[in-house]
Amino acid sequence: AADIQSELTEILVTEEQIREKLEEIAARVAEDYAGKDLLLVGVLKGAVMVMADFSRYLPSSVPMDWMAVSSYGAGTKSSGVVQIRKDLDTDLHDKHVLIVEDIIDSGLTLSWLLENFESRGAASIEVFALLRKPEAAKVQVDCKYVGFDIPNEFVIGYGLDYAEKYRNLRDVAVLAPHVYS
Ligand code: PRP
Ligand code: MN
Ligand code: MG
Repeated sequence: AADIQSELTEILVTEEQIREKLEEIAARVAEDYAGKDLLLVGVLKGAVMVMADFSRYLPSSVPMDWMAVSSYGAGTKSSGVVQIRKDLDTDLHDKHVLIVEDIIDSGLTLSWLLENFESRGAASIEVFALLRKPEAAKVQVDCKYVGFDIPNEFVIGYGLDYAEKYRNLRDVAVLAPHVYS
């Protein structure tokens, strides 16, 4: 495999910064959901790393479920058409749902997901996104827990891919334009 450093222009968020932020948000979530029936819902595949690390900073046992949706395919732009590739296994009725996402880019995936979840009878639905690109928003999404607001550049790593590559990078980095143009 080619040296990954030549495919990146800049590290935006380091592994260490991610760890600290996840700990901080986990403490908030633990407090906000004390005594409540919390269900974490991870959005495959990008949220795998966030879910794995974030959930382990929570002090008590929390069930997790997964929804697989995809709108990007192999490109760098959202198609706007969200497809369910795997639905939840869990009935959301009376659950306090916290959706765990790696990134809010245009917001299309999450706004579609929130609408989809609304009819399922959850007691509450909130969103935790590790990353958010305010300048890229096409629709507004209410996100209670945000890790980092980042510039409008194509980022990869820590779960985020370009054509399924780079998800295993430990940091979040900007993909060099020569890789996709
Ligand atoms: C990416 C990312 C978010 C979504 C954000 O997922 O993981 O789920 O796009 O973009 P949006 O706000 O513009 O909708 P993707 O569709 O690439 O699938 P993946 O998680 O399997 O990579
Ligand atoms: Mn995703
Ligand atoms: Mg993707």
